[in-house]
Amino acid sequence: MASNSLTITDNRTGKTYELPIEDGTVRAMDLRKIRTDAEDFGLMTYDPAYVNTASCRSSITYIDGDRGILEYRGYPIEVLAEHCTFLEVAYLVLFGKLPDQAELKEWVNEITHHTMLHETTKRFMEGFRYDSHPMAMFVSSVAALSTVYPEAKDVLDPENRMRQIKRLIAKMPTLAAMSYRHSVGFPYVYPDNDLSYTENFMNMLWKMVEPKYAANPVLARALDVLFILHADHEQNCSTSAMRAVGSSQADPYLSLSAAAAALSGPLHGGANEQVLKMLDEIGTKANVPAYIKKVKDGHGKLMGFGHRVYKNYDPRAKIIKWTADQVFEVTGRNARLDIALELERIALEDEYFVQRKLYPNVDFYSGIIYQAVGFRPEFFTVLFAIPRTVGWLAQWEEMHRDAEQKIARPRQIYTGGRKLAFIPMEERQGAVAVK
Ligand code: CMC
Repeated sequence: MASNSLTITDNRTGKTYELPIEDGTVRAMDLRKIRTDAEDFGLMTYDPAYVNTASCRSSITYIDGDRGILEYRGYPIEVLAEHCTFLEVAYLVLFGKLPDQAELKEWVNEITHHTMLHETTKRFMEGFRYDSHPMAMFVSSVAALSTVYPEAKDVLDPENRMRQIKRLIAKMPTLAAMSYRHSVGFPYVYPDNDLSYTENFMNMLWKMVEPKYAANPVLARALDVLFILHADHEQNCSTSAMRAVGSSQADPYLSLSAAAAALSGPLHGGANEQVLKMLDEIGTKANVPAYIKKVKDGHGKLMGFGHRVYKNYDPRAKIIKWTADQVFEVTGRNARLDIALELERIALEDEYFVQRKLYPNVDFYSGIIYQAVGFRPEFFTVLFAIPRTVGWLAQWEEMHRDAEQKIARPRQIYTGGRKLAFIPMEERQGAVAVK
């Protein structure tokens, strides 16, 4: 018997099976051999919300949730945040190696020269109500880009995929800025190719009548660091959506719009907006204990706390806290920081949070910085989607290159009725619904 194997005895039949263990996993399909008789479908695993299922092999992002470790392509997030620009990290995440000087120059040049949007995009944007949520505008207009690039459908051609990857990374800030300018009723600003990725984003958001926009370098760097921290996070809800939709060979614009839609939810990327709402609801430091009590009594959650994978301090939240100090030197301190620090202090000592290993996650402090920089809370999740585009696309590309991947199609345990006798309309009143 091999030592790296699992022996299972099926007590229904008394039969014993040996399943190989590889990389700490057993193959779910190996369980199918375990049957009561020839008619039996075979054993499946039941894993709602995929809490213990590896759905792919990936060499992009490593997380050790118990130790609070995050690495992109083997490099610790702290090192990348300190030494790299966002586009350098984007290159690393996509291509698996840090670019040399010539590679980075070419990469930056290519991304910079794809930042313009087709003019029709302005017209879809203008169709939205003035008070539309920026994330809803963003999700819809990413999908609408599929109409501008019909050739993107050829997802089996690696060169074509790469062209769309560059377009998407380049155009996301432009689209995001448009959704912001639309919501405040300002004219759209075209990209400025002299500026860096984040400076140009700030230009498209905030340029008014000045001939040339000059971004504050501290704020531009802070945004760049925040973008690095959000670039990828392995198989989270939105990335799984990207892979699932992409696995049907849908084009990358439509797949990415599905991923962005998943990100918008308050339990995922939408949490940063909810944190600010929560801090406003709490109002003052003195109200923090009462709010914590309310959460413990089962009335709502502490937004920006807890994580499916991290059972320790989210390493991104630590870096965001340091970045906040630099930002506040320019913008002045956001008063909500005191409430957030008090919430963190009490929660980290409280039995409820300690027992459940609930720590601040990436969304807990990011909104406080975003707000100090001048963003409205409704825009925060769009700020998450721009850099995460890199991760979604890297994972999508990896999926297309993985010979083991097929269309994503989980199984179910059927709990409904079967072979029911049809009830004619006149006899249906009072018929019991199948639940
Ligand atoms: N506040 C209070 N209790 C919580 C929280 C929270 N934020 N998060 C989890 N719990 C409790 C939960 O009620 C459960 O308690 P019990 O065992 O008594 O039923 C226990 O902790 C385990 O939680 P879970 O719901 O099984 O954990 P999960 O892995 O399914 O959910 C989560 C992870 C992130 C959705 C959840 O922690 C949460 O809703 N947090 C608040 C929203 C948030 O900040 N989301 C951003 C996540 S990080 C960035 C990103 O992914 O975009």
